[in-house]
Amino acid sequence: MKAVEIIEKKNNKEELTYKEIEYMVNSYVKGKINDNTMSDFVWSIYNNTLSMEETYYLTDIMIKSGETIDLSSIDKPVCDKHSTGGVGDKITLIVSPIVAAAGVAVPKMSGRGLGLTGGTVDKLESIPGYKLNVSKKEFLRLLNTVGCAVISQSEKIAVADKKIYALRNEIGAVDSIPLIASSIMSKKIASGSDTIVIDLKVGKGAFMTNIKDATKLAKTMVQIGKYYGKKVICTLSDMNIPLGLNIGNALEVKEAINFFNGKYDKRLYELSVYISSLMISVSKNISFNSAKKLVINLLECGHAKNKFYEWIKEQGGDIKKLKITAYKKYIYSDETGYINNIDSHKLSKLVFDLGAGRVKKTDKIDYSVGVVLNKTIGSKVTKGELLGTIYYNKKLEDMNTTLKECFKIEKRKRKNKKIIIKTIK
Ligand code: URA
Repeated sequence: MKAVEIIEKKNNKEELTYKEIEYMVNSYVKGKINDNTMSDFVWSIYNNTLSMEETYYLTDIMIKSGETIDLSSIDKPVCDKHSTGGVGDKITLIVSPIVAAAGVAVPKMSGRGLGLTGGTVDKLESIPGYKLNVSKKEFLRLLNTVGCAVISQSEKIAVADKKIYALRNEIGAVDSIPLIASSIMSKKIASGSDTIVIDLKVGKGAFMTNIKDATKLAKTMVQIGKYYGKKVICTLSDMNIPLGLNIGNALEVKEAINFFNGKYDKRLYELSVYISSLMISVSKNISFNSAKKLVINLLECGHAKNKFYEWIKEQGGDIKKLKITAYKKYIYSDETGYINNIDSHKLSKLVFDLGAGRVKKTDKIDYSVGVVLNKTIGSKVTKGELLGTIYYNKKLEDMNTTLKECFKIEKRKRKNKKIIIKTIK
């Protein structure tokens, strides 16, 4: 087989065989094909797309390029959760203990953040002592005892995806539906869970910016799941405005603690309860409404909160030592009116510039910096009232005006966008 002929075939919009895709992927992993040739192959897919059959092939080849995890020793229903990432998305920190408290194991492998949005691993790393790299044996022990474990993505899972995804990031070829779907699903399927709930973010603060493309991606991921006999449910949720009030690594852990103490942002609460209920209902085979009642009860009686502390402690974390060591700059409103929008992209760029994000995987980040919003979408604000607080260690010249510019304040209150757009099964 020749790489150039395979690339040409795809450029001519012809369907590739399993063997041809396998040849390209495996040769690249083994270093027999260089980055330039693989880039041409990636672009040929990006420009000409893949059929569903070809998407299954690519997913399968990427799964087989690494290890798969066997979760059969877990003595309860198991449900994995994935979020495509967004501004202020601390849902994993909230949902995992809620679902574990309901008797469903949550085996979660998470990634580091690249670009504007922080990853769950970075958030958890801000907790002194928290261990993200645990052995497979310890991972399974945590799942059988605590019921949830959040660890960093194993280097050994979907090895081909790791290399191809890094290349796609480098050449700017990320937003291709078959490439995203096979990338996410190869990791999820290799991670061993039979039930997977995906929170697919849509909007200005996410990589999927419109509902039409997000729906197509969701349907593709659900189809891949079916091909493997897995139950995959994908919820599209709004990411035009940040999720919750805190943006920044340690600040988001603080918000999760506030959540379990009954102090929560309405949209964050709505999405957390929704995703937890979906995970429980599909894993325990109970109705969504029964699962939702259970979730609300677990939150109100404190079981979910206790599970949160148990989980962090069992993974070595000392939540009492979580510290935000940063200066604070309070930002007040120049206007009176209603907050009709918060620009999540601009806000995440500000938090990134403060030092909370990274460009390269090896870049150091500042866990303490970020922004805490005092007002959210739909709130009334009067001139001179606190809009938000910037936590900084290096002062940015224009940070005060940038934060103010994130808020769209108008005389008339507009109808808010719903957080949950739709769910695809
Ligand atoms: N997340 C992934 O894991 N892969 C993609 O291609 C895009 C987002």
